[in-house]
Amino acid sequence: MTMLSQDELKTLVGQAALRYVVPGEIVGVGTGSTVNKFIDALAPVKDSIRGAVSSSVASTERLRALGIAVFDANEVDELSVYIDGADEIDGRGFMVKGGGAALTREKIVAAQSRRFVCIADESKLVDTLGTFPLPVEVIPMAVKRVARQFAALGGAATLRLKEGQPLVTDNGQHILDVRGLAISDPLGFESEVNQWPGVVTVGVFAHQKAQVCLLGTASGVKTLEF
Ligand code: 5RP
Repeated sequence: MTMLSQDELKTLVGQAALRYVVPGEIVGVGTGSTVNKFIDALAPVKDSIRGAVSSSVASTERLRALGIAVFDANEVDELSVYIDGADEIDGRGFMVKGGGAALTREKIVAAQSRRFVCIADESKLVDTLGTFPLPVEVIPMAVKRVARQFAALGGAATLRLKEGQPLVTDNGQHILDVRGLAISDPLGFESEVNQWPGVVTVGVFAHQKAQVCLLGTASGVKTLEF
């Protein structure tokens, strides 16, 4: 059997996601290298959909460059499907997201969608969330205090940098990446951290979990339903 590279697995699941796109509708589009494969696969069939609601400036630019209309989330009601990648996904469809710093808008579009279809290569499937450093979008003045709150839970938070400066998200905020957490209760953890003052969004997607995961494996695309 020929081993597929991680990039080829991403292409496979990006293409497989097309079958969840509803003709004539607007599709929710996530962010990241796997989603970029989905956007590329969408381009040749773009005339079969009305357009997209996007979760980041980067995805918006890619969609528009390929001639796909992008709507503001406030211009549309419920979406039937949201397609996005993940940094980790467990056997219940709970995820860690935000490696691309787009977690807040991703959670907003996911919440606006009836079905979350996660596209991921098999390296993302885990038993327990928390090995990937957990991204948390934080208002800048609360960064130190939120880091101390994570320390009290046994987590080590570092401020994400870009070119030596604190990364600024599409929403003008910062990202903390938290190592050393084993998130055994994703629903409870998400609810707790989301109400800490200064936290905009925690990168645990449990309340907005996936209903489907298209997992790229050595033997092809596996469909997991949760
Ligand atoms: C961006 C995300 C991405 O979905 C996640 O980081 C996975 O990215 P990739 O497909 O590049 O591995 O949450 O904020």
